[in-house]
Amino acid sequence: MSDLIPTLADLHALKPTQQPEYADEAEVARVTAELRQRPPLVFAGECDELRAKIANVADGRAFLLQGGDCAETFDSVTANGIRNKLRVLLSMAVVLTYSAQVPVVKVGRLAGQYAKPRSNPNETRGDVTLPAYRGDAVNSLRFDAAARRHDPHRLVEVYNHSAATLNLVRAFTKGGFADIRSIHMWNSDFVRNNSKVGDKYEALTAEIDNALAFMVACGVDDESFRTVDFYSSHEALILEYEHALTRIDSRSRLPYVTSGHLLWIGERTRLLGGAHVELLAAARNPVGVKVGPAARPDDIVALADRLDPGREPGRLTFISRMGADRIREALPPIVAAVERTGRKVAWVCDPMHGNTFESANGYKTRAFSQVLEEVDGFFAVHEALGTWPGGIHMELTGDDVTECVGGIEELAEEDLSNRYESACDPRLNRNQSLELAFEIAERLAAQRRARGSNPVQDFQPVDF
Ligand code: PEP
Ligand code: CO
Repeated sequence: MSDLIPTLADLHALKPTQQPEYADEAEVARVTAELRQRPPLVFAGECDELRAKIANVADGRAFLLQGGDCAETFDSVTANGIRNKLRVLLSMAVVLTYSAQVPVVKVGRLAGQYAKPRSNPNETRGDVTLPAYRGDAVNSLRFDAAARRHDPHRLVEVYNHSAATLNLVRAFTKGGFADIRSIHMWNSDFVRNNSKVGDKYEALTAEIDNALAFMVACGVDDESFRTVDFYSSHEALILEYEHALTRIDSRSRLPYVTSGHLLWIGERTRLLGGAHVELLAAARNPVGVKVGPAARPDDIVALADRLDPGREPGRLTFISRMGADRIREALPPIVAAVERTGRKVAWVCDPMHGNTFESANGYKTRAFSQVLEEVDGFFAVHEALGTWPGGIHMELTGDDVTECVGGIEELAEEDLSNRYESACDPRLNRNQSLELAFEIAERLAAQRRARGSNPVQDFQPVDF
């Protein structure tokens, strides 16, 4: 391997946390050797393209939409599941694009989101204690000793399921399924079929309808109508897997982690000098870092310096996940400290991970109102600092699950047992996701009006 990439032994010497404990080293070596032979899942050129788009986010000229499951499972890789997830993300993107009047960069939390950091290494039920579930990449959710064993062969399954997912995503997004007119029709159905939001969002859908009709009449009916650029992302957690898929790009001779386009480092593993930071520091992909309420501004500035010493536009995204009641005081010093250094990063809001609680009937859940409250805090903080609220990172699914309370259907704690399917954190269901998109759209439109920016009026007319 190249000296541009730390070796796996170098990374292990840094004592990484949240790693599987495999019983048989020789077996692990066979698995990683096999993965090293496999073709890349994503291509360096695509990662460069995404970096350029995130540069626009950092510069206030685009908005990032990132979403998907907390934890993908092998069983959930079905045509319907992937289509529904894609459909809800693309639907959200249309509403956001119209309201913000800037491009929306679309990134799925999919095709690789199979490993979970855990606060507790064990799980106890009654008088039985077993290793915690760490995602399908590591072990199985089933609560028995054999299923909870850390199995390195699962990493090959991660590769295979990610390849199958990406294959379908590429077919859907480039094959006509993602035509903006179909997506708009799904949104119209949502508004029509949900009388509680109908009045509120009808005007916006009618405006989009008119705008599309006008564009078609003008003869705009090209590739940009029928296809979308869509990227994959996941938390780069399991070093064996991410390292085995790190490759030297034949054009640039530089390293890329080819397991996904955008890789992020979680709140629990973003240690300066730690293995996860060192691996991604060596790679050319766009990189995200989760930032929780206890983060110290100096540490975040130091992480930025380590991950992006060249201050390259689009390289770095900070994903804040503060909690609705903390964001207004915890986020400003961090944003201000990074901005003071003069570097430009993309600021994205994860309104999910600071707002989890256990319901009275024992479900891990989130309240839609708290999610929205954190989004409001995020917009307020950036407005006060004069910085751009660059995007939103969500745990969602296109299916009608009952995992988060609230939203238009007013899901109550008693409803959670109806269809609670998440293998890890609770996800917004399809209606809750669309409702959130409409709510964010209203805030983006208000902000745009306040800034007085308009891509048509910003155009420099040619005198003739
Ligand atoms: C997640 O995104 O599922 C997650 C574990 O996030 P965080 O690292 O922010 O806790
Ligand atoms: Co999660």
